[in-house]
Amino acid sequence: MLATKLSRPLLNFSVKALNFKDPGNGFRPVQRFSFPLLSPCGSRSYANEVDQIGSRAVLITGCDSGFGFALAKHLHDKGFIIYAGCLQKDKGEGGSKELDAMKSDRMRTVQLNVCDSKEMDRAVEHVQSSLEDPEKGLWGLVNNAGISTFGEVEFTSMDTYMEVAEVNLWGTVRTTKAFLPLIRRSKGRVVNISSMMGRMGSPARSPYCITKFGVEAFSDCLRYEMQPQGVMVSIVEPGNFIAGTNLYSPERIKAIADKMWDELPEIVRKDYGRKYFDEQVSKMESYCNSGSRDTSPVIESVAHALTSTTPYTRYHPMDYYWWLRMQIMTHMPAAIADRLYVY
Ligand SMILES: NC(=O)c1ccc[n+]([C@@H]2O[C@H](COP(=O)([O-])OP(=O)(O)OC[C@H]3O[C@@H](n4cnc5c(N)ncnc54)[C@H](OP(=O)(O)O)[C@@H]3O)[C@@H](O)[C@H]2O)c1
Repeated sequence: MLATKLSRPLLNFSVKALNFKDPGNGFRPVQRFSFPLLSPCGSRSYANEVDQIGSRAVLITGCDSGFGFALAKHLHDKGFIIYAGCLQKDKGEGGSKELDAMKSDRMRTVQLNVCDSKEMDRAVEHVQSSLEDPEKGLWGLVNNAGISTFGEVEFTSMDTYMEVAEVNLWGTVRTTKAFLPLIRRSKGRVVNISSMMGRMGSPARSPYCITKFGVEAFSDCLRYEMQPQGVMVSIVEPGNFIAGTNLYSPERIKAIADKMWDELPEIVRKDYGRKYFDEQVSKMESYCNSGSRDTSPVIESVAHALTSTTPYTRYHPMDYYWWLRMQIMTHMPAAIADRLYVY
C-alpha cells in the first residue's frame, strides 16, 4: 500500500525532471503529483471544506501585483471577505485601483506597508472596526508581500541585506504579531509565502534565501505555539513563477546590477573583474526569463490552506525540475547534491 503510494508520483515524472542541470531559459509547465505528501501542488481534495466561507475574512499583504493580486480576486470569488493590503493604495497606483473598481463590499483594499508599524496599527484598527463581529475575529492572514534581489555575498551591501529582510522577514513577523489576536479569536489560519529558496541555498541569492529560511523557521515555531490555540499555520514554497509576477523585470535587474557595480568596494571590483560580473548578471537575466506564467498552483495551494479542514504544513507548487532539485538538496549528503546542482 505504502509502496504503491510512494511509487505513484514517479509514474507521472517527466523525463525533463531528471535533468540535473537547469536548462535555465524556457518555460516548463508546472506538473502535478497525485500523492499529497510528495505533491508540488497536487490534486487536492476539498471534500472537507470549512463552512460559511461568506462570513470569513482574510487579510493578504502585497496585493498590488503578482500572487497577492491574483489571490485577492480568487478568494473573493470563492466568497471570502477580503482585506487586500496594498503598498501603493494611498498613491492611487498598483493593483488597488483594479480591486476597488470591482465595487464589491467584500473586496476591501487597505493601505499597508509591512515595514511601517504605524500603518500596521491603522490597518489592524480598520480591520477590527469593520469586521461584522470583531469578537469572532479574522479567519485568515496571508503573508505574501516580498521583494527580491541577487548578487554574490561580496557584491551585496549590508543595506541590501537589511532592505530585503525588512520586507520579507521582519514584515512577516510584524504583520503576524499585529493580527494574531484577531486570528486566535476565530481559531483561524496563517499562511506564509516562503519560497523553494527558503529550503535550499543558491549562489548569488543569499540576500533573498536568508529571509525565506527565516520565514520557514518563524512559521515552524509559530505552528508549534498555535496548535494548542486551534490556529493552523501553513507554508507555501513556490518554485519559479517569475514570468507570472512582478518580482523581477529586465529593468529591475539592470537597475540592481548598475547600482551594485557602482557601489562595489574597489578590491572586489578588481579581483572579480567586469567580465565575471556581467556573466553573473546575464545568468540572472536568463533565470528571470524562465519560470511559469501560470500562477494558479500557488493560488490553489493558499486557497487549500485557508479552506480545507486539514490543511498541509507545507505546499510545493513548482515544476518537477525544481521539486526534484529541492528533494535532493534537502535530503542527500551535501557532497552529492552540490556536485549535481551547484559546481
Ligand atoms: N514569483 C516567484 O517566482 C516567487 C517564487 C517564490 C516565492 N515568491 C514570493 O511570493 C511573494 C509574492 O511575490 P510575487 O512573485 O507575486 O512578486 P510581486 O508581483 O512583486 O508581488 C510582491 C508584492 O509585494 C508588494 N510589496 C513590496 N514591498 C512591500 C512592503 N514593504 N509592504 C507591502 N507590500 C510590499 C509589492 O508591491 P509593489 O508592486 O508596489 O512593489 C508587490 O505587490 C513574495 O513573498 C515572493 O518572495 C515568489
